[in-house]
Amino acid sequence: DYCHHKGNRKFRCCFEESGGFDRTPAIWTREQAEQIRITPQNAAPVIDFDALEPTAPDLWVWDTWPLREQDGSIAVLPGGWRVIFSLTAPRSVLPGKRHDIATIRYFYARDGQDWIPGGRVFPQEDPFGSRQWAGSAFVKDGEIFFFYTATGRRGETSVTYEQRLAFARGDVFSDLEGVLFDNWEEHVIIAEPDGEFYQTQEQSGGGIIYSFRDPWYYLDPESGCEFVLFEGNTAITPAVRECEPQNIGDGDFRSGNDVPNGAAQFNGNVGIMLLRNSDYTEWELLPAILEAECVNQQLERPHIVYSGGRYHLFIISHQFTFAPGLDGPDGLYGFVANNLFGNYVPLGEGGLVIANPPEQPFQAYSWLVLPDLSAESFVNYFNLEGLSLNEVGNQPDQYIFNHFGGVLAPTLQLTVDNLDTTIVNELAQGLVMESETQSAPFPPTCEKRRHYGD
Ligand code: FRU
Repeated sequence: DYCHHKGNRKFRCCFEESGGFDRTPAIWTREQAEQIRITPQNAAPVIDFDALEPTAPDLWVWDTWPLREQDGSIAVLPGGWRVIFSLTAPRSVLPGKRHDIATIRYFYARDGQDWIPGGRVFPQEDPFGSRQWAGSAFVKDGEIFFFYTATGRRGETSVTYEQRLAFARGDVFSDLEGVLFDNWEEHVIIAEPDGEFYQTQEQSGGGIIYSFRDPWYYLDPESGCEFVLFEGNTAITPAVRECEPQNIGDGDFRSGNDVPNGAAQFNGNVGIMLLRNSDYTEWELLPAILEAECVNQQLERPHIVYSGGRYHLFIISHQFTFAPGLDGPDGLYGFVANNLFGNYVPLGEGGLVIANPPEQPFQAYSWLVLPDLSAESFVNYFNLEGLSLNEVGNQPDQYIFNHFGGVLAPTLQLTVDNLDTTIVNELAQGLVMESETQSAPFPPTCEKRRHYGD
């Protein structure tokens, strides 16, 4: 009935057979990553830190994503509201500790900038995990479909790092006065690493940084099938591994380049899974769409912008997660392919699309490219005067507090021309959408609730 409703033959195939989706991953090679350079096209302007507006006065705000329509466009709810979800923590905790207590809160605004805090997305006792990390959400017929990372276990007494992908579905109430989410159904764990395509925490052997997180819902406009992308690691046993030729580069490159010891431990990938039922609770893990073995450990927050018939795949990554012998800044990296499971090739310089400027190498992080190719992010550490991200953690508390942003960063406008990308403008903090679609009015059965706020 669901498939019939979509009137799309391919859509029905999504549920019945996964044939055709199990290609081998595209590869980000060492040869390609050696091309990474900071250029005038990809270097972000230095942020004017004194001019920043607080996003939420009492909260650190970092990874952020907008409420979307299923097609990926940014939702405008009845009442004219846009909504963002952010990982948040009280400003009283040291910035480095925020990951251990992250809570997803939402904010709404008509102009995409003057955000009104909506409070916690979920009642405190509902979500999986001892804390929640990044995810994605879409709205359909007055319901919200919410994906997030459940990190650790609910109620644990000391912090653990297990990561699972979780899903919850609830109702959206939106009118001239504001937006709230309520009537959440019981949360469901929709994916755990399988140890075959995706490394389990155990297999990682406490390695560099294990990841299975950041679920990003994606309705593929070409197949009509629904997917979730996520940040994973390829299932390998680090100790017994060597870099394969295909991860290094072509023959000429290989013969002239020795891969430094330790590079084989780096195994980040962009994972993908296919929706298998109409409740959004059953998903089938497929092989990764992009792997960075011997290149980078973390391809974080993967997401796709489809334009001009091509799939633009973006990830964020850190300088410290590049394998030995490679050097890339904290930045946004991108790849393009002609189909979802295609042969992704790096955009920009070796994949680099937005780099923090060398003067402020950690000024922002967690860029997310929106359908109009604007990229939002948050202000990370600034004015460190040569300290690395690891060293900043050893400074006196007051120093750390004074050098961390925890607010939305100025949005950057990108253009993409084939493989070339350029930062053409620095915009205001927040979402700055030039064009927008009005979402359909909700069904009349949605009654109004009121308990805005935390
Ligand atoms: C990126 C990230 C995400 C994760 C979150 C945890 O900034 O590492 O991958 O969900 O931060 O705070």
